[in-house]
Amino acid sequence: MAWIAYLSALVAIGIFVRSLIARREDSKLSHIPLVKFDENDTQERYITSTRDILHQGYLKYGKHGQAFRMRNPVDGGHSQVIMAKSYLDEVKNASESRLSFPLYSIQSFLLKYSRSVLPSPIAAHVTRIDLNKNLGELVAPMREECIDTFKTVIPECKDWAPLKLWDVFLPMISRMTGRMLVGEELCRNPEWIQLTIANTQGIMKSSMGIRALYSSRWQWLAPWTYPGRKDLVTLRRRAAELIEPVYMQRLAAFRGGTQHKYRDAVQWIIENSPEKPLSPAEVADALLFLYMAGIHSTSATIVSIVYDLIAHPEYVPALLDEIRHTLAESPEWSRQSLAKLRKLDSFMKESQRLNPVGCVTVQRSTVRPYTFADGLHLPANTFLSFPTYEFTHDAETYPNPDEFDGLRFHRMREEGDATKFHFATVSNDSTNFGAGFHACPGRFFVAHELKIILTELLMKFELVFAEGTRRPPDHCHDFTIMPNMQAEVRVREKQSFGI
Ligand code: HEM
Ligand SMILES: *[C@@H]1O[C@H](CO)[C@@H](O)[C@H](O)[C@H]1NC(C)=O
Ligand SMILES: *[C@@H]1O[C@H](CO)[C@@H](O)[C@H](O)[C@H]1NC(C)=O
Ligand SMILES: *[C@@H]1O[C@H](CO)[C@@H](O)[C@H](O)[C@H]1NC(C)=O
Repeated sequence: MAWIAYLSALVAIGIFVRSLIARREDSKLSHIPLVKFDENDTQERYITSTRDILHQGYLKYGKHGQAFRMRNPVDGGHSQVIMAKSYLDEVKNASESRLSFPLYSIQSFLLKYSRSVLPSPIAAHVTRIDLNKNLGELVAPMREECIDTFKTVIPECKDWAPLKLWDVFLPMISRMTGRMLVGEELCRNPEWIQLTIANTQGIMKSSMGIRALYSSRWQWLAPWTYPGRKDLVTLRRRAAELIEPVYMQRLAAFRGGTQHKYRDAVQWIIENSPEKPLSPAEVADALLFLYMAGIHSTSATIVSIVYDLIAHPEYVPALLDEIRHTLAESPEWSRQSLAKLRKLDSFMKESQRLNPVGCVTVQRSTVRPYTFADGLHLPANTFLSFPTYEFTHDAETYPNPDEFDGLRFHRMREEGDATKFHFATVSNDSTNFGAGFHACPGRFFVAHELKIILTELLMKFELVFAEGTRRPPDHCHDFTIMPNMQAEVRVREKQSFGI
């Protein structure tokens, strides 16, 4: 029986070593001030009121250039470090082998334990380079998907009809984004659309499910023991089956030297690895990663913008005027003409400032112990992030920060630097799309996508809140912010085009 004891000892040592490697050790962070609730400092309180702690910490430390620590309710209550703005340049500059965004994603969403798709360097690369090169050519195809989705989800409504914004925009965004990811055919396939949405939801569900069942010390067992361990694998396998015919046909055409110019991520992935083509499963994973990065974030953003449009109808005439003016100069939407919609751009950015998809961005995990230039030391596997919500609600940067001022950024462009303060600009004061090398490479695409939808919406439809209701408040869970997905608004087709 000695071998049983021997084996048990080995397993025990393995588990112990593993826990040493993966654990975020709060004791090593005791030199950083901790901010917590004075009373009722419970896990539940953090889930619903994390934002209050962030605000307290920012006023007490962050605003004065000092990092602070607070509990991370979705990570077993381990500490996370919230950085001051003065560290931003250094974090932007740090190499991925020191402060890593992919590692943060893997650890934070338990991507390996749930057998999810992982952050894909080639997918990020084609988004950063090829997508941005092709934005102009993508305007017309994206409009096609937008108009067609409006036709299917908003049946002819001469009279007011009820509508849930989330139910319209989630599939619309999947199609419009899918057009540049997988092309015309697959982006409209209902099973594919459903699957791209289910993937993101599945990742959230698995990470919450695993955390509910296992303490952080035991999470590594999840790939073999978690009841839902097959969910994401099955989904990824089906995605690979659906992508295979499209991918194989493209690959054959590429090798045959076809002249046809496909403009989507499937094509760009092929062109970026001509020597050693990826397998259909690898391509499916890369695409699912992009859908995960792009679908829910963009859908939440457009829903918030449209709520703000309904809540502030006083802006509509000026926005329509700008659209008419632009179309009078060039009747077909193009990259250039969309860039002229500066008031709309400002409205979008203001809406994002007040209703972003998260309170913190530029999240990183320390690969190894890291010491900042001023001596601030973080042990390995520490989560750090920047309190974007506080930066964008600081009256010193944005006067009357809680007031919706749709033309705020338009004025800033007129009065200051016209090239700054775009929806897609990232800067010290504007970090909703992150910062540095990892700053969202999809943000210029998002700006186009949103403008295409909003121009169509403003010209063709009228919207109001259901009688007796107002703009529904956002829903906050930990640092995530989502617009209300259930509220009903009412929609009516405009009688005369464009007025
Ligand atoms: C409103 C919608 C979106 C928001 C708010 C958003 C926000 C972000 C943020 C905050 C980051 C992390 C940046 C950092 O930590 O420095 C990021 C990364 C990323 N986003 Fe977006 N994003 C959006 C839409 C999209 C879309 C449509 C795509 C493309 C399909 C996309 C692709 C990516 C990729 C590939 C990364 C990882 C970049 C890297 O690792 O280098 N995003 N996004
Ligand atoms: C603590 O806060 C949570 C979340 O807000 C709440 O559900 C709970 O009732 C509070 N407990 C006490 C003792 O106040
Ligand atoms: C951003 O902030 C850092 C530190 O406060 C500063 O050194 C840098 O010049 C700023 N960058 C810009 C573009 O304002
Ligand atoms: C940025 O990185 C380079 C090379 O790693 C280094 O020489 C430079 O001092 C860094 N700058 C800042 C502001 O950290």
